[in-house]
Amino acid sequence: MTGDDRDAGSGLAERRGLDEAVVYQPAEDSGLLAEAALEEAHGRVLEVGTGSGWVAQQIAEERGLDTVGSDLNPHAARQARERGVEGVVADLLSPYRADAFDTVCFNPPYLPTDPDNEWGDWMEHALSGGESGRELIEPFLDDVGRVLAPGGVVLLLVSSLTGYDEVLALVEDAGFAAEPVVEESFPFETLTVLALRRA
Ligand SMILES: C[S@@+](CC[C@H](N)C(=O)[O-])C[C@H]1O[C@@H](n2cnc3c(N)ncnc32)[C@H](O)[C@@H]1O
Repeated sequence: MTGDDRDAGSGLAERRGLDEAVVYQPAEDSGLLAEAALEEAHGRVLEVGTGSGWVAQQIAEERGLDTVGSDLNPHAARQARERGVEGVVADLLSPYRADAFDTVCFNPPYLPTDPDNEWGDWMEHALSGGESGRELIEPFLDDVGRVLAPGGVVLLLVSSLTGYDEVLALVEDAGFAAEPVVEESFPFETLTVLALRRA
């Protein structure tokens, strides 16, 4: 994601609605999450916020693992299904039972967004992490321990724009220890995928 993405989304505010089939397409952050997942994923896999389903597809095809891709955006769940992934419409982890997955991956919407500058379409849902950038990360971390089977791993993409230290503090509060798996710096942000395991 870049600042340009946000500006582009904002300019389209009045023309786009939630009925328009806008879906986040694979970008650098998707590639980093896939790289980490191909290294760390095991067992039953859930990708939260699957977007186009590309990351989930890599895991299913390259690692041969049962992989579910879920997203709040129904157009995303449909694109995931078109890639052969089991695509589910879901708000974060709400429909899943306790201990359901051995690996949970999430490239969250993480851009800090001015509340006066929201644009109300699916691209906002894909990019905006609210004022702090962490408004989806917080409830995700609060609940992910419930759906994670013993010995499971969470792969969470974090941007420096979201506040790396603040995310680490949330991770610790949720009872996990974090270890960086892959990291890459771009002109405006550094992206890190953390592997989280129960402390
Ligand atoms: C940055 S995109 C990542 C897409 C894809 N995983 C990738 O890496 O290319 C974030 C995704 O999270 C989804 N999302 C936003 N809020 C969500 C929620 N409450 N529950 C599930 N998915 C959500 C968005 O629709 C979007 O597809």
